[in-house]
Amino acid sequence: LDWTRLGSRTISSGAAEIATKEAQHSVDDSFGVQQRTFGSAAEPIQRNPDYSVLNSDDVSYFKSILGDNGVVQDKDRVAVANVDWMGKYKGASQLLLLPKSTNEVSKVLAYCDSRRLAVVPQGGNTGLVGGSVPVHDEVIVNLGGMDKIISFDNVNGILTCEAGCVLENLSTFVENEGFIMPLDLGAKGSCQIGGNISTNAGGLRFIRYGSLHGNVLGLEVVLANGTVLDMLTTLRKDNTGYDLKHLFVGSEGSLGIVTKVSILTPAKLPSTNVAFLSCNDYMSCQKLLLAARRSLGEILSAFEFMDRQCIDLAMTHLEGVHNPLPVSPYKFYVLIETTGSDESYDKAKLEAFLLRSMEDGLVADGVIAQDISQASNFWRIREGISEASVKVGAVYKYDLSIPVEKLYDIVEEMRSRVGDTAEVLGYGHLGDGNLHLNILSSKYSDNILAQIEPFVYEWTAGHRGSISAEHGLGLMKAEKIHYSKSPEAVQLMASIKKLMDPNSILNPYKVLPQSALSPEQGS
Ligand code: FAD
Ligand code: MLT
Ligand code: ZN
Repeated sequence: LDWTRLGSRTISSGAAEIATKEAQHSVDDSFGVQQRTFGSAAEPIQRNPDYSVLNSDDVSYFKSILGDNGVVQDKDRVAVANVDWMGKYKGASQLLLLPKSTNEVSKVLAYCDSRRLAVVPQGGNTGLVGGSVPVHDEVIVNLGGMDKIISFDNVNGILTCEAGCVLENLSTFVENEGFIMPLDLGAKGSCQIGGNISTNAGGLRFIRYGSLHGNVLGLEVVLANGTVLDMLTTLRKDNTGYDLKHLFVGSEGSLGIVTKVSILTPAKLPSTNVAFLSCNDYMSCQKLLLAARRSLGEILSAFEFMDRQCIDLAMTHLEGVHNPLPVSPYKFYVLIETTGSDESYDKAKLEAFLLRSMEDGLVADGVIAQDISQASNFWRIREGISEASVKVGAVYKYDLSIPVEKLYDIVEEMRSRVGDTAEVLGYGHLGDGNLHLNILSSKYSDNILAQIEPFVYEWTAGHRGSISAEHGLGLMKAEKIHYSKSPEAVQLMASIKKLMDPNSILNPYKVLPQSALSPEQGS
């Protein structure tokens, strides 16, 4: 082991932004027809004929509200907004709207509701379940123009900003004030805080700072009919009635458009260490997690795991990264980060923990980053797995919550199911019981899909897991919600949707099964 100190972690990437552009290059430009329905949508989804078709009067009206610059019809620009980050889901919208204020969002939605024009709210378009792009000709409302920081309370660490702020920009801002964002993810260079909230993004700091349900203090949301719902409190405690903001955290643009956010930011701590370790078997990873929780306690800030297939993929497809443990291949790799307030104490604690773990046979080999560049390399491997995956061609992506002791079983079962027709990767936020199961092949194939689904959902439900730990349901899993939620819960969700968006203009075909939303189903 290389026992060396690391300064504080400042990894900024823009990596996802670059990858977004690459994915966009591969998009063929024959938009106007929905081309693909990969993943879980076995049958092409029919356009709901109740929705109006956009006409020139609509476009003129939008221009009167947003000005010419806020109404994009240019085919190339609209084509980019029609395709998701993976290049997998593709819509056929003819119109991209770029509002600059809550009032503009309100007028756009009030009009769309009155005309029954369907709408897709869009942030950084880094979502991984087809939620952020149209299915047919829905109008795209992208929040990127609403990117102002409104205020920062540097006593309590409370940030208030517009929903279109890019996460990485917010991180830089609050770090300059001595705080950090409570969430961090590989897409930080492109994803927006409004998108993070709408997906209830988890990410790499969840183990330490928990869910956005805990960190978001207030929201401003525009409802489908244009009503502005001001819930933009900055209070830590407020038990007056139902806490409505939680309805929008994780609702994937189906209940309203988030326009402003207030969020609690933890203090930035001076000492960060990152270790990259290898384990010979999955049982050792589990024991290491338990030991890390016990021994590192309050300074543990990340516990991520990857199997060997992930490392091989990263080394093949990511430029400028190198394997920190190149001597021999291991079955599993773990990235541990600690963040604390006392440099010598934190370092000694991590070193002692790693020594013990090696003596106990839990860790086969390991290294602690000596500087920021090494730490960045460790993180780049972990954060770059999704970027490397899309370079292979086709990626079937599953994001599962499973009890930790069973979490890797499904990776092995999947490997034996697909044989040599596809490569199976297992990685994720082990500390949160969240497995990312990626199945890669050079192109999409019904045969491979038939090996994966419904098996993956049945297996997960059978182990009382969740079929979406953090990415959401989107288009991919709207019809699969019953694997993780009871019929009664789905019915209540559908009733809430009907109450809040009676014309169903917001993000149609996503999140909830079409059958639950049909008029025959009681509201
Ligand atoms: P989009 O992709 O634009 O939209 C996502 C959903 O939110 C859509 O349904 C959209 O309609 C809705 N939406 C967006 N903005 C708004 C708004 N203002 N109001 C209402 N609805 C809105 N996710 C994780 O949870 N953890 C990770 O670690 C993680 N890592 C990732 C790494 C990479 C490289 C990539 C590409 C993605 C990753 N993701 C991760 C998935 C994705 O980045 C997150 O879900 C992110 O929060 C989406 O933000 P976005 O602004 O890109 O939203
Ligand atoms: C991650 O943890 O890397 C993300 O959720 C993205 C992914 O799985 O592709
Ligand atoms: Zn993740």
